[in-house]
Amino acid sequence: MPGTGNLTKTLCSSPRRSIALHYNRPVKNLGILLSGRGSNFVAIADSIAAGRIPNARIAVVISNRADAPGLETARHRGLDALVIPSKDKPREEHDREVVAALLENKVDLVCLAGYMRLLSPWFVQQFPAKILNIHPSLLPAFPGLEAQQQAFAYGVKVSGCTVHLVDEELDHGAIVVQKTVAVRDSDDEHTLAARILEQEHAAYTEAINIVLEGKFEIAGRRMVKGQRLEVRLQK
Ligand code: GRF
Repeated sequence: MPGTGNLTKTLCSSPRRSIALHYNRPVKNLGILLSGRGSNFVAIADSIAAGRIPNARIAVVISNRADAPGLETARHRGLDALVIPSKDKPREEHDREVVAALLENKVDLVCLAGYMRLLSPWFVQQFPAKILNIHPSLLPAFPGLEAQQQAFAYGVKVSGCTVHLVDEELDHGAIVVQKTVAVRDSDDEHTLAARILEQEHAAYTEAINIVLEGKFEIAGRRMVKGQRLEVRLQK
């Protein structure tokens, strides 16, 4: 079972000292699950390469669809990319195969990046407060499929994206980061979705850093940042 980590405190404000302390942190393994084009996965990989997510690596990319373009991108980047087909498999049976691959790769944090499968309660229980999802609306508005289209058709003036911890309900767990996007009169659902996607890429990096740093509490539905080095889950 992945632990909450053994973080080294950044005690000093000098940039050099702070960088040195980042290097003392154990490298965290990310597991990416995707089903499609994989632009959020690429944004995460780019953030790691650029040092915006310090001390993390992508340990494995897993797709339930062999034709997911994101898999090919992962292979081009020299990452381990696995297909674990979900078609015609009972949900938990498939999830057990995916979790086995994540554990084999010593994954600390699971990032759903356009993964078009609902996780079983069993899967969620294997990684408490260690599964993130990104959704292209300001939850709790417009959960489910085609959220940008739903928001556009509803006529909202502001939409955006949400990165949240995954719990047993669809698009529901504690919110880690949200970013807003103003809807323009000149928008159609595609231009709106494109601006939301830009914000998704920034939001995912921020959320991963928050969760890997581990300085937060979850009180009811609220994720509250603090000085604690351990995640405390409160009912
Ligand atoms: C994104 O809009 C994400 O919010 C949603 O699925 C889409 C995946 O896009 N969950 P990509 O595969 O990361 O480009």
